[in-house]
Parts: sequence; C-alpha cells; structure tokens
Amino acid sequence: MTASNNGTPKQVEVAVRCDGLTKTFGTGNAAVKALRGVDLEVRNGELLMLVGPSGCGKTTLISVIAGVLRRDGGDCTVFAQDYNRMSEDETTSFRGVNIGFVFQAFNLIPSLTTAENVATPLIINGMKPTAAVSQASKILVEVGFDDRMVRSFPQDLSGGQQQRVAIARSLVHQPRLIVCDEPTSALDGETGHKVMELMRRLGRAENRALVVVTHDSRIFEFADRIAEMEDGRITQVVDSPSKLKAMSNQVV
Ligand SMILES: Nc1ncnc2c1ncn2[C@@H]1O[C@H](COP(=O)(O)OP(=O)(O)OP(=O)(O)O)[C@@H](O)[C@H]1O
Ligand SMILES: [Mg+2]
Repeated sequence: MTASNNGTPKQVEVAVRCDGLTKTFGTGNAAVKALRGVDLEVRNGELLMLVGPSGCGKTTLISVIAGVLRRDGGDCTVFAQDYNRMSEDETTSFRGVNIGFVFQAFNLIPSLTTAENVATPLIINGMKPTAAVSQASKILVEVGFDDRMVRSFPQDLSGGQQQRVAIARSLVHQPRLIVCDEPTSALDGETGHKVMELMRRLGRAENRALVVVTHDSRIFEFADRIAEMEDGRITQVVDSPSKLKAMSNQVV
C-alpha cells in the first residue's frame, strides 16, 4: 500500500515484483541453483500462469513470493513490502493477512470437517472458532457446497470437491494475492475447467492477483498472461491469445 493525497491507503498497481531473484538449495557439490535471476511482475487483478518443465523452479519461485521460503539474492517485493526486511513473526502475519496458498496436494487436515479446514486461516489470524466456521461455511456455499458437505470430512469428498475446499481455504481470509501450485493436476478436464472458472471469478471480484503454476495446457485460456520458466529464469511472458495458443501446442 502507498498513501494517497488524502492519506487513505491506495492499492498499488503491481502486486509482485521480482528482479534478479536467486535461490540455491544446499551447498558445495550438492548445491542446486533453483532460481538463477528471476525477473517477473504480477499485477493486481490478473491471473498469471507459470509454466515450464519439471525442476525449472516454479514451486520454489511461488514459495519465495508467498514468503514460505527466503530468497538468497536479488529483489522481491509483494505489495511493495520486502520479506527480507521483516522478522519471521512479521512475515507470518503478513502472509496470514495478504496471501492465500493452494498446495498441489490440497493439504487438508483429515480430522477436521470441511468448514473447519476452511476456517483454519481465520483462526490462525485470531478469529474465534465459531465465527470462523460460520464465515468459512459462507464461502463454501459460494464454491457450490451444501450444508451436508460443509459438515463432511475430506476423505468423503471427491478430488474436485477437495480442491474446491482448498481454494475456499485460500480465499476465506480475503487475501490480495493467491498462489496455486498445479491446482488442476489431479482433476479431470471438466472439473479442472470449473475450478479455474471459480478461481478467476473469485479472484477478479476483488482485484486480486493470482499466480497459477500449471502443466495443463487445457486451462491456458483462463490466463491473462503466461510466463514461461526454464532453468531458474523467466524466458518469456506472453499476453495475446494467439501467442497463448502457440505456446499451448508446445508446452505440456
Ligand atoms: N528443499 C529442497 N532441497 C533441495 N533441492 C530442492 C528443494 N526444493 C527444490 N529443489 C530443487 O530445486 C529445483 C527446482 O525445484 P522446483 O520444485 O521449484 O521445480 P518445479 O518447477 O516446481 O518442478 P515440478 O514441475 O516437478 O513441480 C529442482 O532441481 C529441485 O530438485
Ligand atoms: Mg513444483
């Protein structure tokens, strides 16, 4: 946020800016340079897809952007804030307020009901459990769940339903940035389409920024821009439908 003339916070245009971002895992002979100088901008209100071969650094990049991993070098700001200038506690609370993360494996907690799973980010942010579950139930209705499903447990849900729960959980605390790691990889084509429609609708509604990692060319049509990654760097970013189409024939 930056201050406008009348002192009220003004939304910044750019949600995420990375310049020369680097990250290496391990040291010495075992060192793996996962990010070798990433330059990338993600704007508010856009759905940016991140594509590229396995091992090129996609999960590492979104983890740094989400404040889950610390970078080694270069710059990275999220809503004009820099994790490297924050303590661990400040990073955790910044993430808790501003960021929604959809993990590839859903990461739902089996002993909690659907509504309790979705309520988790609110409870972590300090909301009372009863109020949090009530707010979670409302967003679950938005993603197409009825009362019975809201009270069910993850193991009683299909893959597509579990993914919708994971998406509801990433949105429940109204984050301004949502990052998703392969949200449709476990889903059939039709369910994947529905999940992406939901992401885009709920994301655009509040001018949120969405970063979606995918190998799935069937969902490229939902992107505003596609960033291609190779060997720890962004190699191109395309934004026209025809270029998206040209890429969708190449990248799977
Ligand atoms: N915690 C870690 N420790 C060591 N090396 C890691 C770690 N996480 C990732 N790497 C390595 O960093 C590189 C980038 O990994 P990353 O998971 O970001 O790739 P990716 O593009 O997400 O791949 P995929 O499409 O298979 O999910 C890989 O060589 C990987 O083995
Ligand atoms: Mg990955």
